[in-house]
Amino acid sequence: MSGRLDGRLVGLGITGSIAAYKAAELIRLLRAEGAEVQVLLTPSAARFVAPLTLAALSGHPVDGDILDLLPDGRIGHVVIADSADVLVVAPATAHWLGAMANGLAADPVTAACLATAAPVVVAPAMDGEMYAHPATRANVARLREGFGYTIVEPELGPLASGQVGLGRLAELSRIVDAVVAAAGDGPVRAPDPAARPPRLAVEPRDADLVGRRIVVTAGGTAEPIDPVRFIGNRSTGRMGVAIAEAALDRGAAVTLIAANVSVALPEAAEIVRVESTGQLRAALLDRLVGPDGAAAFDVLVMAAAVADFRPVAPTDVKLVRGGPMTLELEPTPDILAEVARIAHGLDATGARTRDPLQPRPVLIGFAAETGSFDRAADKLRRKGVDLLVANDVGEPGSGFGTDTNRVTVYAADSEPEAWPLVSKREVADRLLDRLARRLADRAG
Ligand code: CTP
Repeated sequence: MSGRLDGRLVGLGITGSIAAYKAAELIRLLRAEGAEVQVLLTPSAARFVAPLTLAALSGHPVDGDILDLLPDGRIGHVVIADSADVLVVAPATAHWLGAMANGLAADPVTAACLATAAPVVVAPAMDGEMYAHPATRANVARLREGFGYTIVEPELGPLASGQVGLGRLAELSRIVDAVVAAAGDGPVRAPDPAARPPRLAVEPRDADLVGRRIVVTAGGTAEPIDPVRFIGNRSTGRMGVAIAEAALDRGAAVTLIAANVSVALPEAAEIVRVESTGQLRAALLDRLVGPDGAAAFDVLVMAAAVADFRPVAPTDVKLVRGGPMTLELEPTPDILAEVARIAHGLDATGARTRDPLQPRPVLIGFAAETGSFDRAADKLRRKGVDLLVANDVGEPGSGFGTDTNRVTVYAADSEPEAWPLVSKREVADRLLDRLARRLADRAG
């Protein structure tokens, strides 16, 4: 690592301003500099931004109640005060500045600031008139001159009130720079994790999918021949389940549409069980568009091994043994191509007949090939997907029933990328790295 805050613990106090939502991004930036971040919330801040989001982003349970003890009985704001290298309050409201200037420790943020020997950085955000008021000016002056706090002055710009004034929370990069400057280059204050506030039991590897809705299909479909027999395939669902687990660990809300699988399914996912291609198609189309007409998910990962053919007329009674028998098969609908058409607003002929889904879901297909990937690039285009993950199911260690996979990833807008033979979980994480970048670009 080479961040400017490597190994440091930053206590981030958030108070009840509309700018509180920006604190989520501030957590990312501080962590990107190598810091561990512990969030403290005032009660009103918790009404602007969900503690769950902040916990997932920071990897620490949030300290939002001055009377709550840590699970091990320690007092949260005191542990944070004693172990943090820097405390940063962003955004700081007029009310909080007043409470702090007078030492009124009714919330965890003020209490931690009172209890700490660490430097404190304060980034106010409020209406311009409020910031200009002599009371606020005096409180800010007290914090700066009396307490030695660093004040990251707000900026001139449009405010939540609709007015333009001096009160907008400073650019986050300025706040990060102020934290870096306050931390200085002395030793880390409390390097022993036992002296620091506790982490979440299961920390998201990287909370870059918080708030994203991801649908994953997994396993092999079964097409009934009669009530007893079916046409199936060798898929175990391992790859799809690994993707669902990895996405959950990164904070996504995951729906797992599971056909026939022989591995355990993650409890944190919403599970939808299906058997046939027809059921899988119905389950997906049901979940594609929300009641408001917008896309109901951000991402579809189509890892299921979907049958290409099915019996034309499955029987209701068991077929009995007799002479030779011919089973008539028909092609199944291409579900992924159909979802892609809907997402792009196209009809079956490729003509634009409606608006594309908004926001346009990212579509990821899989292709099980044997021998060569010659058809993969064409399949990517034909299906209208953003990414196609091709694997050679004939290769040892790759494909059905193994814990590893060697894949080549085709993208609509870049050269194919051949990945080495790695665990399916590692394939999942690399795929989600690419996906997270794509979603960030889409937002940008
Ligand atoms: N797929 C689908 N519906 C089908 C068949 C496949 O949605 N009826 C999806 C698979 O889940 C996979 C992708 O399409 O994500 C590619 O599947 P694959 O079987 O490799 O492609 P096919 O369309 O079957 O093409 P081909 O038979 O030419 O290999």
